[in-house]
Amino acid sequence: MANRILNKLGFTKEDEIVGVDIGAASIKVCLLKKTKEGRFTLSATAHRSYDDDLLHDGNIIDAGFIGRELKSLVSSSGIKVRSAASALSSYSVITKRVAMPFLEKEALEESVRLEVENIIPFPLKEIYYSYYIMGMDEEKEGMMNLLVVAAKKEIVDGYMNAFDLAGLDLSVLDVDIFAVTNLLDEIYKPKGFSVLAADVGASVTNIAIVKEVNVEFTREILIGGKYVTGEIAKRQNVSYREAEERKLNASPDVTDLLQDFISNVSSEINKTVNFYVATKPRETVGRIYLTGGSSRVAGLKERVQKETGIEVEFLDPFLFVESGAAGAVAEEEKYSVPVALYLSSRRDEN
Ligand SMILES: Nc1ncnc2c1ncn2[C@@H]1O[C@H](COP(=O)(O)OP(=O)(O)OP(=O)(O)O)[C@@H](O)[C@H]1O
Ligand SMILES: [Mg+2]
Repeated sequence: MANRILNKLGFTKEDEIVGVDIGAASIKVCLLKKTKEGRFTLSATAHRSYDDDLLHDGNIIDAGFIGRELKSLVSSSGIKVRSAASALSSYSVITKRVAMPFLEKEALEESVRLEVENIIPFPLKEIYYSYYIMGMDEEKEGMMNLLVVAAKKEIVDGYMNAFDLAGLDLSVLDVDIFAVTNLLDEIYKPKGFSVLAADVGASVTNIAIVKEVNVEFTREILIGGKYVTGEIAKRQNVSYREAEERKLNASPDVTDLLQDFISNVSSEINKTVNFYVATKPRETVGRIYLTGGSSRVAGLKERVQKETGIEVEFLDPFLFVESGAAGAVAEEEKYSVPVALYLSSRRDEN
């Protein structure tokens, strides 16, 4: 009873969850609130970048450091919520779609376990896994489609440890590219064609192709902004910080490196589109959405559009929140906040 009254007064914040995206080069946090009408407003968003890598092969390198930084980022953003949602990097997660007949819960769990043993190249005791029922199989009668997701225990435990040290309770763990594709689906609701999403980050470029609500295909390419900065530092014999500055200002002496980067990313996106339509001749990719800090490299969007012949736009996460709510937020957050923003909307599932 007391709880219900508190809820009405809006004193309990239990149902709010802070979204935290830990990337190779940055930590981003975001908190959404829900209005009485059930729309989201943006309550807080913040972002810190680092010169040193925060992740190695998806593992948090220094949980103590992340814990401290996260704690200070959350408190300096005025976020009081303790419950948190985060996402693993897609390259440290194995996902597989499997078709299975309808089974009782226990039999289904046993079948999933056998499936996981087959598809995961590690002993079962070294991984955590879960599955989602995606729906009926359109082609095979009596079958349903499951999405099986598995990650190494040491990676997940590293996240738990870091959040613990930050004084947060990690209650949802997603996969970064799925946060992007789910957000994209919520905002644009693409119908009649497939769309491609590319998150061009610091160490990796994640690509996904989505048809209606289904993720048809994902791919990770080890190309990102850190490599470009590292090359500038090496070739021009300057510090990483100075090299990063030269890159962000697109100074004339880094043009060739930026052009190489643009050409690599664009060519990989184009190859992905071609591969997809070759395997699914009835499908077309109708739109490409770009996000991630490195998608801002000047000329990348235009190059992708020219090479693929598909219209390209930047994913605008703020379309997910009430208009005007994002007014005061820096423009650059648009490219970095999508994962954290979507994660904060996942509170209702708990
Ligand atoms: N205006 C800009 N022009 C070019 N590069 C930029 C710009 N702004 C940010 N970047 C680059 O974007 C990268 C950070 O992007 P992002 O925050 O998406 O990465 P991350 O999430 O930390 O990493 P990852 O997703 O690879 O784990 C950095 O390499 C940074 O140099
Ligand atoms: Mg990222």
